[in-house]
Amino acid sequence: MPLLSSSLQADGRRCYKQPMIVDSHSKLPPHQHRPLLVPRVPTAPFRSFSLFRPTPSSLTIPNSQLSRMESTLVGHRRHSIEMYAYLPHRISAKIMPYFSVSGKNKNQAMVEHLQCQGVIRSQRVAEVMAAIDRGLFVPPGTPAYVDSPMPIGYNATISAPHMHAMCLELLKDHLQPGMRALDVGSGTGYLTACFAMMVGPEGRAVGIEHIPELVSWSIENIKKSLAAPLLKSGALSIHAGDGRLGWPEAAPYDAIHVGAAAPQIPKPLLDQLKPGGRMVIPVGTLFQDLQVVDKNLDGTLTVRTETSVRYVPLTSADKQMRGF
Ligand SMILES: C[S@@+](CC[C@H](N)C(=O)[O-])C[C@H]1O[C@@H](n2cnc3c(N)ncnc32)[C@H](O)[C@@H]1O
Repeated sequence: MPLLSSSLQADGRRCYKQPMIVDSHSKLPPHQHRPLLVPRVPTAPFRSFSLFRPTPSSLTIPNSQLSRMESTLVGHRRHSIEMYAYLPHRISAKIMPYFSVSGKNKNQAMVEHLQCQGVIRSQRVAEVMAAIDRGLFVPPGTPAYVDSPMPIGYNATISAPHMHAMCLELLKDHLQPGMRALDVGSGTGYLTACFAMMVGPEGRAVGIEHIPELVSWSIENIKKSLAAPLLKSGALSIHAGDGRLGWPEAAPYDAIHVGAAAPQIPKPLLDQLKPGGRMVIPVGTLFQDLQVVDKNLDGTLTVRTETSVRYVPLTSADKQMRGF
């Protein structure tokens, strides 16, 4: 039995169809939760790999061990190379980047996986996600490239890579050079940095986040990334405030992204959306839809649901700090 099904791409690359990790931002049921491109490996303790040489078809590991394993692998290249030796040859070349010490390679492998899965469909989104290394935007020890949201403190998360990719795909035509973008609930600053790279030095990317500690941390994250010059020039800025009110100073926006779920679409955000602009926002409480709101040139709105999601709530800082 093959471990992973695969298909040959037009460019000769092989795309492995292992299910993506799904998570609190995903519509898939919990029993399908699987890690992204983490291979099946022996259930034996990790250090015993050199003694235990199973045939590839016997490789298996419970999901519960996988994120711990990835963080173990990050710091131990010798182990990662040993582990590589046990992978079936035909999948190992694809998976190897996850076990190298280079965050850049892992970020690139994450992007390629999202392309294989069809979540990233455009060159622009692939390029920006390759340029902004997700590893710079997570707390130390967090498996940055696993396709799952990860805790960042203050009852907040960094959204899963597939959600970032999906939102970038939905907004890409409204993130052309020179355009204006607002990222509400900017958290780590990752997506705001991607927006800034896409709209460029002539454009404007604004992040608004209501936890002041996250604002300061996200600015430090951005300073380490390729978006740092845009922060310095003022084309990218992050502000502390209630995102439900938007950020009128830089309005109107061609693109608005909301990274937390609102019970209804906040009116100030609709007012700050430019005619011809697009907002992507999770709407709902227990059951949430990722809604795509287009403001037509005559000011009317067209709203459609892209998919079902589960995000943390767009709420007050007090409620968030008390656990909602
Ligand atoms: C799921 S996290 C996403 C963060 C960001 N998109 C990322 O991936 O790093 C949602 C963020 O929204 C913030 N948030 C929630 N309600 C807010 C509000 N009313 N105003 C501003 N930020 C808010 C939270 O603090 C959290 O950082």
